[in-house]
Amino acid sequence: MTSDAPWWKDAVLYELYVRAFRDADGDGHGDLRGVIERLDYVRDLGVDVVWLLPISPSPLRDDGYDVSDFTAIHPDYGDLDDFEALLVAAHERGLKVITDLVLNHTSSDHPWFQASRRRAEGKDDWYVWTDDPQRYADARVIFTDSEASNWTFDEVRGQYYWHRFFHHQPDLNYDNPDVRSAMKDVVRFWLDLGIDGFRLDAIPYLYEREGTNCENLSETHAFLKELRAFIDAIAPDALLLGEVNQWPDDTLPYFGNGFDEMPLLFHFPVMPRVWKALAEGSAEPIRWILDRTPAIPPSCQWVVFLRNHDELTLEMVTDEERAFMYGHYAPEPAMRLNVGIRRRLAPLCDFERPRIELLHSILMTLPGTPIIYYGDEIGMGDDVRLPDRNGVRTPMQWDDGTGAGFSRSERPFAPFPAGSSAPEHVNVAAAERDPDSLLHWMRALIATRKDHPALGGGTFVMLPSPDPALAVFLSTHHDDAVVAVHNLAAAPRRVDLAVPALAGRRLELGFGGRLGPGAEIGLEALAEALPISLGAHGYAWWWLSEATP
Ligand code: NOJ
Repeated sequence: MTSDAPWWKDAVLYELYVRAFRDADGDGHGDLRGVIERLDYVRDLGVDVVWLLPISPSPLRDDGYDVSDFTAIHPDYGDLDDFEALLVAAHERGLKVITDLVLNHTSSDHPWFQASRRRAEGKDDWYVWTDDPQRYADARVIFTDSEASNWTFDEVRGQYYWHRFFHHQPDLNYDNPDVRSAMKDVVRFWLDLGIDGFRLDAIPYLYEREGTNCENLSETHAFLKELRAFIDAIAPDALLLGEVNQWPDDTLPYFGNGFDEMPLLFHFPVMPRVWKALAEGSAEPIRWILDRTPAIPPSCQWVVFLRNHDELTLEMVTDEERAFMYGHYAPEPAMRLNVGIRRRLAPLCDFERPRIELLHSILMTLPGTPIIYYGDEIGMGDDVRLPDRNGVRTPMQWDDGTGAGFSRSERPFAPFPAGSSAPEHVNVAAAERDPDSLLHWMRALIATRKDHPALGGGTFVMLPSPDPALAVFLSTHHDDAVVAVHNLAAAPRRVDLAVPALAGRRLELGFGGRLGPGAEIGLEALAEALPISLGAHGYAWWWLSEATP
């Protein structure tokens, strides 16, 4: 069932790292043909959209976010024919495909940068050059563990160039109309191939202005509007998901008037607070950030996630909250990176199923479109000994054979996690065989969410709760309503919950886990007093009963 909203409002996204998903040609690196081989698995999860991490040629010093050719495929992954075959195969299965559009910067290997550093005619100011590295001093450094400054001196040109991320990722100069037009050509190239949209990487940083922190500038918004109009003329239905890691008030302007900038934006600050709520056994951190989340245009949507390919970012929390999160979730220094925690979802939950389920139940009932990060659906582990964020980007564990069904090569591009999360213990084949596996539960969760237009396309409120341990979410859309109750506490909870917005309506307990005494699926009650009985980390989704007149 879907709502009458744009298609992506009811969607569930699956984020996948091509290098790590499935290696079809046996060279140890995952590839596009490998993704095609596993599309049935992706479809069977019940997701609608596959988001591929960058797939273009790159020296891979930032796993492809350092692009050296925007209109080709990295040779390890295949070629443009393979990409078109992937689009066809995905579309045949009702799946859409998006990939990253890295607007802000290129690799220093990109021919544009090579030309610019030599002051080649026409490319001289495609990047941000200066003799004075004191410029833009108010801009923070983002990769605090590896970069001391946003300026790096280039011996070839004899000037400094600007970069918000790694020093090998020079920022493009968006003041130059040729740059803007070149990036539009890139967008057109992929849309003409039939791609269904983009995740727009790092968009707050496109422009720099003296005396500002060089984030969220009006010039940036103006360019994004220009880009949106350009895309609308080619593919008005495209899913455009902006990566804006900012507070909600600073993120809101990226929605524009609802139709002229980004239709979808990640809700970054809610993510660490879901984790904090779990750690504290209290729903208050979630309430706190949702109270500070402004209404967004009805045509737009938040995108929510628990984990992704980066560190669990703690940029949008206070110093005190960060200290708490590090203490709770990253006790060892190796677990920390930049301003965040480089661990996967299951290890962060000590591999405990109740917590993993609870977090996903919250994810699927928060306002917005959810994303699942590949491998989290089977509870994959990580390897904090690997550098940078590589420990959360290890190969997908398909079975317990050699190469874990990922590759027949004896030397996959990265090792598998060891110990209890090694492929012998955690893999798709075993999960398929076990009717009680996390994988089967995830499929049921996603299917249940997709049965309810209220979740996704609906209107959301977090209701007052008689018990601070309980997060109570109400979502409504026409004749659909879902009340989702989540017990953040590691102890049982029992309350009678009134839902005045549904007064006089009869609700039934339709989905749940770790239900307490007296509660069971199918239980009916009037919205005046829902008998909430939840075990430790339990959750219950109530919806309008068929019997409701
Ligand atoms: C955000 C991406 O998520 C991250 O992986 C990357 O390192 C930076 N952008 C720089 O492109």
